Amino acid sequence: MTDIKSKKVVLGITGGVAAYKAAELVRRLGDQAIDVHVVMTEAACGFITPATLQALSGHPVYTDMWDARIPNSMAHIELSRDKAVIVIAPATADFMAKLVHGHADDLLSTLCLARDCPLIVAPAMNRQMWENPATQRNVAQLEKDGVTILGPASGDQACGETGNGRMLEAQEIADAVAAFLAPKSLAGVHVLMTAGPTFEPIDAVRGITNRSSGKMGYAIARAAIGAGAKVTLVSGPSSQPIPAGAALTRVESAADMFEAVKKHAKHADIFIGVAAVADYRVETPSEHKIKKTDDSQLTLRLVPNPDILAWVAGQKQPPFTVGFAAESRNLENYADEKRRRKKVNLIVANLAQNAIGADDNEVMLLDDSGTHKLPRAPKETVAKDIVARIATLYRAAKKRR
Ligand code: CTP
Repeated sequence: MTDIKSKKVVLGITGGVAAYKAAELVRRLGDQAIDVHVVMTEAACGFITPATLQALSGHPVYTDMWDARIPNSMAHIELSRDKAVIVIAPATADFMAKLVHGHADDLLSTLCLARDCPLIVAPAMNRQMWENPATQRNVAQLEKDGVTILGPASGDQACGETGNGRMLEAQEIADAVAAFLAPKSLAGVHVLMTAGPTFEPIDAVRGITNRSSGKMGYAIARAAIGAGAKVTLVSGPSSQPIPAGAALTRVESAADMFEAVKKHAKHADIFIGVAAVADYRVETPSEHKIKKTDDSQLTLRLVPNPDILAWVAGQKQPPFTVGFAAESRNLENYADEKRRRKKVNLIVANLAQNAIGADDNEVMLLDDSGTHKLPRAPKETVAKDIVARIATLYRAAKKRR
């Protein structure tokens, strides 16, 4: 179901200190099932070796126009022909100037000029170079020419100065490239979703929570953004990086999560409840830290939390509603019972012991048409498959209305 699988890209590396991040970028693109073919300028080889990138990408690395490995000596044409996009990371100020003027004096610049695919550029340079009017003119021209510019970020620089010009982190570039390549099956669609655990206070310092990391929910948010959706993410405490482009509302308790969802639900086309919401909360949390007493027991009185997913699905005109079922046994039966009881369009079922906190997941999707099993895979891949299925079912449901 994942359409970016087997998409090939050229990663062009130019000569800047940030070239060291290109090694990590090859890995992170690989995580997104993107096949990376590296081309380097001569200056880039002064910062990182082609051998490293060859080992990481699993393909020969090209640096020279006259490379004998390309049979017809047309490396500058051949290398871009079956590629979905060329990504230049890092892109130096000099290389961007070359792109603006259409220079073709080495393999990478010639490849860019002769390309028949889109170009993405991640600049990396000293802050003064970035702010120089010449660079700013070049950036504006590249954007006019349809080139996508990623970053740069602000922060500490290799030269010891601080400011704008740092290359984005490898993960951020990989996410942006994956989003660029993903089919836009949810263009114009507003997705509201919950993710992560909730935290139910016991007193001023303690609370009840669970082992959910937020990984699956955040991966689904990224996949939905990649598919063109506008995403509002209501998240319990999670240390996951915020998905670029998501409107994030941070909450702690189930009650706060419910309020945030109620606020946005009217405008949502799709609701996805990924959060591991606590079913119970402490009836009256103590304002101050509860002190230990001589009694050997402490009793907490728990009362049920509202079921956010069931509330959304029960609205007069509910959005297309997707729930998750985390079970420890009888997965399919329990999940299907949950789907019917909560009246949701689709349930994503997984075994809690396999999913919570892990990097991989194995899920089954249950809707009116039956059960579809997805193979075990990294959560990013599973998320894209889930989003693809949601998009298909959402469009079909919309047609029927
Ligand atoms: N959910 C919710 N609000 C709750 C509890 C659960 O929105 N108070 C949502 C979850 O986000 C998930 C789905 O309901 O999409 C199922 O959650 P799960 O914990 O598996 O099921 P429960 O309904 O809590 O049932 P049980 O714990 O008995 O399995």
